[in-house]
Amino acid sequence: MVPSRRFFVLGNWKMNVNASRIESLSRLLSEAKLDRKTEFVIGCPSCYLSHARQLLPSHVGVAAQNCYKVSRGNFSGEVSPAMVQECGADWIILGHPERRTIFGETDDLIAEKITHALSASAKVVACVVEGKEDRNSNLTEEALAAQMRALAPAVTDWSRVVLAFEALWASGTGVLATPSQVQEVLAMLRRWLRLNVGNHVAENTRIIYAGSVSAATCQELARLPDLDGFLVGSAALKPDLIHIVNARHRRPGKLPLILSHRPDQRWA
Ligand code: PGA
Repeated sequence: MVPSRRFFVLGNWKMNVNASRIESLSRLLSEAKLDRKTEFVIGCPSCYLSHARQLLPSHVGVAAQNCYKVSRGNFSGEVSPAMVQECGADWIILGHPERRTIFGETDDLIAEKITHALSASAKVVACVVEGKEDRNSNLTEEALAAQMRALAPAVTDWSRVVLAFEALWASGTGVLATPSQVQEVLAMLRRWLRLNVGNHVAENTRIIYAGSVSAATCQELARLPDLDGFLVGSAALKPDLIHIVNARHRRPGKLPLILSHRPDQRWA
């Protein structure tokens, strides 16, 4: 059977928004022509989840950018999947490269978080990362396989997981990954799933790419056979995001992008 992997775009606002910025971004997204064939989700800081949920169009999902591995307890500063769900998040991003590198989250902790989030009925964007050293030392496959070995046993329901591959060396560094570099790694991850989890999961799990995706690069990348969408950081704060959501649209003429913004213009 031909797999039907719906194109998935996650615009991750990271810690770059406040209440009024969310209002203007949500207004622009509400006015934009968005390809409804794309599943489109916004990653929002936890304290603004309800605000974003109220303001974003109902067909746009909302994701928390992190959560803890249990439902409640004495864990100051943490939030649980049940809490973010109550605030309107249907998705949770886990294992984001910034959680791994800045906050020192280990593969084991990320695995525990994934298991708990899935048990709380959340949908999860699970991230794996390729660092600059991995690429320079030709250790990409080993590095990703180690992360996958930790992550895969934690997944109790692959139908609620999107796998995000981030080329950290191509995120905000001025160096871009070429389409063939991206395809090579996505194919590697799908092969890993086929060999270690099974054919059905390999064919049906969406694998998305992160690493400075922009309006200028998204259309060529969107044609890659193993690419099912994007995790977008800096461009999620610009009109670029609309172009990225619409990257697979076959007849761009029929889907006017938006308004009078230039792709490189920052939203207010
Ligand atoms: P970027 O961020 O698009 O700015 O590279 C992606 C991410 O880390 O979420």
